[in-house]
Amino acid sequence: MARFFGDYLSSLTQENEQVNIALSGGSTPETIFDMLSQEYRETVNWDKIRFFWGDERCVPPGDPESNFNMTHQHLFSLLPVSENNIFRIKGELPPQEALKDYREVIDNELPKNGGLPLFDVVLLGMGDDGHTASVFPHEIDLWDSSELCEIGTHPTSGQKRVTLTGKVINNAREIVFLVTGKNKAEKVDEILNEKGDYQKYPAARVNRDKSLWLLDQEAVVS
Ligand code: 6PG
Repeated sequence: MARFFGDYLSSLTQENEQVNIALSGGSTPETIFDMLSQEYRETVNWDKIRFFWGDERCVPPGDPESNFNMTHQHLFSLLPVSENNIFRIKGELPPQEALKDYREVIDNELPKNGGLPLFDVVLLGMGDDGHTASVFPHEIDLWDSSELCEIGTHPTSGQKRVTLTGKVINNAREIVFLVTGKNKAEKVDEILNEKGDYQKYPAARVNRDKSLWLLDQEAVVS
């Protein structure tokens, strides 16, 4: 999985002058980022990539919970990535201010397609409850918001997060899901095989025609 994604990124940066990518957070990308920093330093044109996020916890950038902090530790601190190419969500601000700031950033910093910000790649994970980015099942209506991003609330911790909405995610040229672990297998099966009430999961709302699901063995129902 990790090498597939590394090769994918390498080809993107060879074929394009600029690659705008929205990263996912959580724990799954950590191992991918570690591998990229160790094995793809030379093959990926890192200075062509501009880094955004699909979501960010409303915490300061140095907080262990911060997706930026995780990415800095496992990727940016190990590779020649210019700060000018990092557009982090300002989790240290009050949520509504962070939301307003990021709405302006993605509106101003990205090309448009159909009047909407255009990412070349949106990297997504999936929670074991079927959430993606920070659109959770209990507030799945956020997915269809008319806004470019919204404030999501973690169902158990109550943690506020800034998240892209469905119309921006599905506007991307390509979407890559990175999903690992046995605890995800049932939801992956329900969504990819369109079983039962699978549409209640935000991850199921992602445009399948543009999505590449990278799964480890455990995440596949045996
Ligand atoms: C986040 C992520 C979130 C994540 C899933 C899966 O901010 O937590 O963007 O959508 O991708 O929760 O997380 P794990 O990779 O930790 O299972």
